[in-house]
Amino acid sequence: MAFRENFLWGGATAANQCEGAYLEGGRGLANVDVVPAGSDRFSVGSGMMKMFSCNEEHYYPSHEAIDMYHHYKEDIALLAGMGFKCYRLSIAWSRIFPKGDELEPNEEGLKFYDNVFDECLKYGIEPLVTICHFDVPMHLIETIGGWRSRQMIDHYVRYCETIFKRYRDKVKYWLTFNEINMILHFPFMGAGLYFEEGENKQQVKYTAAHHELVASALATKIAHEINPEFKIGCMLAAGNTYANTCHPEDVWRSIEKDRENYFFIDVQSRGEYPAYALKQLEREGVKIPFVKGDKELLQTYTVDFISFSYYSSRLVSANPDVNKMTEGNVFDTLKNPYLEASEWGWQIDPLGLRITLNSLYDRYQKPLFIVENGLGAVDIPDEHGYVEDDYRIDYLREHIRAMKEAVELDGVDLLGYTTWGCIDLVSAGTGEMKKRYGFIYVDKDNEGNGTLRRSKKKSYNWYKKVIHSNGEDL
Ligand code: BG6
Repeated sequence: MAFRENFLWGGATAANQCEGAYLEGGRGLANVDVVPAGSDRFSVGSGMMKMFSCNEEHYYPSHEAIDMYHHYKEDIALLAGMGFKCYRLSIAWSRIFPKGDELEPNEEGLKFYDNVFDECLKYGIEPLVTICHFDVPMHLIETIGGWRSRQMIDHYVRYCETIFKRYRDKVKYWLTFNEINMILHFPFMGAGLYFEEGENKQQVKYTAAHHELVASALATKIAHEINPEFKIGCMLAAGNTYANTCHPEDVWRSIEKDRENYFFIDVQSRGEYPAYALKQLEREGVKIPFVKGDKELLQTYTVDFISFSYYSSRLVSANPDVNKMTEGNVFDTLKNPYLEASEWGWQIDPLGLRITLNSLYDRYQKPLFIVENGLGAVDIPDEHGYVEDDYRIDYLREHIRAMKEAVELDGVDLLGYTTWGCIDLVSAGTGEMKKRYGFIYVDKDNEGNGTLRRSKKKSYNWYKKVIHSNGEDL
């Protein structure tokens, strides 16, 4: 058998993309709540447009999302119906600390997640919790500028301590930051960053990154003090970068590109800033705001495991004339002529998952966890809400095969696999509902219309069979 007996099969979601109820239960406004769907999404998400409140002209998908806040029992029962061993979800920071700088948490928010975890545990589902998945309380952005401020570390640590203590006996697996490298691409969503005219963006991004890295190390420290059984992971938006040709300059470019992303995990897993990053940042005139004790913290409190999302590989060229670009999870990539692509232009590369698993395992030699993978596609339901999503089954089957090979043939130590958006939810990149990943269809459209009725797609029973056979019956 390729996969370990207790392999954590399941699915993943994020609070801001599914919960809705954005001002209920005492929840405070978060960055994601002011990021609209439509063409302004990227400008706000990338911190280029300052929009700290909502207006009539835009539609804000996080406000209701799929209303999991009120449907969580039904939704978790559906996940349990597939035999889920694990459910990755995130806690909305502003449900626990509505403004972010309070000294006491919001009991109603804490109670909500108690209920969610109890519901999971009732079915034997292990919760895997992302502490911060593209969400920062808006008040902290308005008052201190999000993660550019070192004060964020204290607020984050207080938040972590609160949830570690409260859920000490309910949650074992934690991720400190979702796709920490996304700070480079989606700084407002990733870290509550926006830029002032003429500001050195690299400096701001790496200052914020340093604060997050220190915060992550501190979280790891207190987590193990609160419960030595806790397993703390980092989380990378992964996918190896290929060179467009065997020209050494293309190969070098691909190494540089991968290092932009590895940088974060190098710090979180190996415990220090890698030499290549120190040199690069020095060349760019970026100063890392180290204070006394930071280096020791980073060195001592490294993560227990490496988690990552994988949707696609990437392709680069050193030649500026080669410019056939395609979409790819906000990462620029050339079009790879050997790969097909999703309706959103994300290239489909199952072998790329095996390559990525091997690269990460070779580099870090720590257990890995695939916490996101899947196909965003347009689903056409019949009148019962049933979708014949063979395309999704094909995508997942091929990726599971590749991960099986990585485990069985290459000896990669893999803890689990949670597919992205196991129930349809709002797309982070576009704000659409139309871009669906789920085994469960949710009746809602891009404009917010729909009954929110849940129904099983064809992939639901397929995945159930995969889990039941521990990945043997694909
Ligand atoms: C990852 C994020 O980048 O990709 C998720 O962690 C996101 O939040 C997922 O939803 C898929 O991206 P998209 O843009 O299709 O929603």
